Amino acid sequence: MPGGYRRPSNSTVRVTEPEQSGLIEQLALKGYAIAPDFFKYELCASLQQEADALSLDGGAHEAGIGRGPDQQIERRVRRARIQWFDGSTPGQLELLAEAEKLRIHINKLLFLGLFEFEAQIALTPVGGFYARHIDSFHGSRSRIVSLVAYLNDDWATADGGCLRIWPPSEHSHSPPIDVVPRRGTLILMLSEKVDHEVMLCHRARASVAGWFRLRSAQH
Ligand code: OGA
Ligand code: MN
Repeated sequence: MPGGYRRPSNSTVRVTEPEQSGLIEQLALKGYAIAPDFFKYELCASLQQEADALSLDGGAHEAGIGRGPDQQIERRVRRARIQWFDGSTPGQLELLAEAEKLRIHINKLLFLGLFEFEAQIALTPVGGFYARHIDSFHGSRSRIVSLVAYLNDDWATADGGCLRIWPPSEHSHSPPIDVVPRRGTLILMLSEKVDHEVMLCHRARASVAGWFRLRSAQH
C-alpha cells in the first residue's frame, strides 16, 4: 500500500498469534511482510534513546559489492551511524527475545532452518539515505530473512525516510511500495530476494536492522 500505514490510537496493541501466522505467510507469498504496531511502544522508546546516543559525526559509509553472475560491482551508498547489538541493555534483550519468537515461528511454518540472529541499531541523519540494495546474495547463504523495526515516534510522511520495497518479480510485477517508518512497525524480507531502499530523510531516523542466518558452518 503506497504511503504507509496509519497507526491505531492504541499503539501498544500487539499482533496476536493467528495474525503472526498471517505475517509469515505474507513473507512466503510476497517475499516481504509488514506489521504496523508489532513492537511495543515502550520498547521502541527505549531503543530510540540508544539510537539517539549514537554520534551522528560518524560520516559516510560507502561500499562496493559484488552482485550477480558477472560479479559486477554495484555501489551502495549509506549515510548512517550503526551499532551492533551486544545484549547489554533491557531494550536490546527484549528485541532479541521477540526475534527469537519470530525465528521459531518462521522455522515452524517455512522450514527455513534459521539458526542465529544478528542486529544493529541505526541512526540515519537528516540528509541520510540508503541506496537500493539487497541484504544477501545467492550463494553466500548467510542472511536469509531480514528484519527491520522502526523506533521514531510521530513520524510524518513529510519527514521522508520511507522504506521502498520492490516486490520480487517471481512473486508479482507490482510497482514498488513505500512504507512510512512509524514506531512499532515490523518489516520482514527475504534477504536474497527483496530489493529495498531508504529514501532521503528530512528528520533523524532511528531503526533496528537484523538478520536471521543459517548455522555458520552452512555458509
Ligand atoms: C538495512 C536496511 C532498512 C530501513 O539496514 O539493510 O535496509 O528501513 N534498512 O532502515
Ligand atoms: Mn537492507
